[in-house]
Amino acid sequence: MAILVGFFSGLAVRLGMLAASLGAAATLLARILPSLSAGKGRLIAVLTTPENQRRVFTILRALSPNLVLSRRLVTAYDSTGTALVTRFSDVVEVLDRDADFAVVYEPKMREITAGSNFFLGMQDSAEYTRDVSNMRLAVRRSDVDGIVIPLAAEAATALVSACSEQIDVPQQLTLRVPAALLSGYFGTGGPSEAAMIAWTTVMFWYLFIDLAGDAALRERALSAAAACRDYLDTAISQRKASPTEGDDVLNRCLRMQDAGLPGMDDLGIRNNLIGLLIGLVPTLSEACVQALDQLLDRPAALAGAQAAAQANDDAMLAAYVFEALRFAPINPIIYRRATRDTVIARNTLRQRRVPQGTMVLAANLSAMFDPLAIAAPQAFRTNRPWSAYMLWGYGMHGCFGAHINRAVIPQILKPLLKQPGLRRLGPIDRAGTPFPVHFTVSLG
Ligand code: HEM
Repeated sequence: MAILVGFFSGLAVRLGMLAASLGAAATLLARILPSLSAGKGRLIAVLTTPENQRRVFTILRALSPNLVLSRRLVTAYDSTGTALVTRFSDVVEVLDRDADFAVVYEPKMREITAGSNFFLGMQDSAEYTRDVSNMRLAVRRSDVDGIVIPLAAEAATALVSACSEQIDVPQQLTLRVPAALLSGYFGTGGPSEAAMIAWTTVMFWYLFIDLAGDAALRERALSAAAACRDYLDTAISQRKASPTEGDDVLNRCLRMQDAGLPGMDDLGIRNNLIGLLIGLVPTLSEACVQALDQLLDRPAALAGAQAAAQANDDAMLAAYVFEALRFAPINPIIYRRATRDTVIARNTLRQRRVPQGTMVLAANLSAMFDPLAIAAPQAFRTNRPWSAYMLWGYGMHGCFGAHINRAVIPQILKPLLKQPGLRRLGPIDRAGTPFPVHFTVSLG
């Protein structure tokens, strides 16, 4: 009996996926047709909105869950073709099989550090374990409650209180709280907050978003990297020359150096810090803005998040914020390269051969909307298990800052959500970049 129930409910989900794909195709066509005459740029802009990305993935999950093309869509890295992987179980498979699907960032990481790799660019190796372990001793999970949340909450509250009628969210809040973490928690606040925001943002853009290999962007990123390296080298040598008592990440790194830990010479500290700083600033800011944007589009969810903020119910607030972010995660795909000829989803009808050198785009946005893994994925729900969320990677290279993100993003948004009259005054303005640069909301 249970087998029969399982069979028919599985069939129903699959039929639902087919029907949803037809609906998504019709809506997409209606969205795309008017933009066809407006040129390629407009078409790409339409196709890359979070709603339309979700529609494309709805079609692929139903009709071609593992699409393998001989065409290279990512030109910033050597590759022989492209595979797009859209179902939850296959995205997990790709991100779990590090030996077959490897990270590709190493050459760019070496450019950023002017020499060494950073652990996100490494394969599973002794060096990877050494560096991650060192950084986990310096950036401790217990800091989240003890240092990071109080610091972020205080900074966010002060920044929102300083605005009376309206606030430009990235410029006046979501970029500035991460910058406060750089100075107050890491001990590497930079020559100025603006410099740290600008450097980390352009380096992040070059490392992770520029899939086309833009020469001008590379030049800007490498000049930011040189300036950031100089700053960190000086910060390390000055701190050694004039030690401080503060319990920040830099001081912990220097204590580990004194203890003779491998990988913690000045250069090792600098290169690890540069990688962490790049991961911290633009990501936290964009995640806050995108979650807020999604909440503002949903009056009932916004009211729920505002009530949770007012009641200081941080767990419920986080449930609203991360469900909102599920609809528009900052990275809809995570990319890897096949190290050998291999197969994805072996022994299933969606099994595909993936030739060596193929760039494999594991679509985490799609995974979070796969009805075969996620209950009622199109619904906005605040009671999903945390395992339904793939907001910052998965597997060995899953985000180093995961616990920080989970704690800090709701704290940054909380004082804003406490404003009863919160409403948008316009769309997110990315000012020609991939990141939210302006997003003005009214506070009352
Ligand atoms: C909402 C904020 C964030 C998002 C969306 C995000 C996203 C991601 C993603 C998708 C990955 C996996 C990349 C891959 O597998 O190719 C990753 C890894 C990483 N992230 Fe984050 N991140 C965020 C915040 C942070 C913060 C705050 C830090 C620093 C404290 C950080 C540092 C890192 C590092 C070092 C890795 C590499 C981990 C490894 O290789 O083991 N990230 N992040």
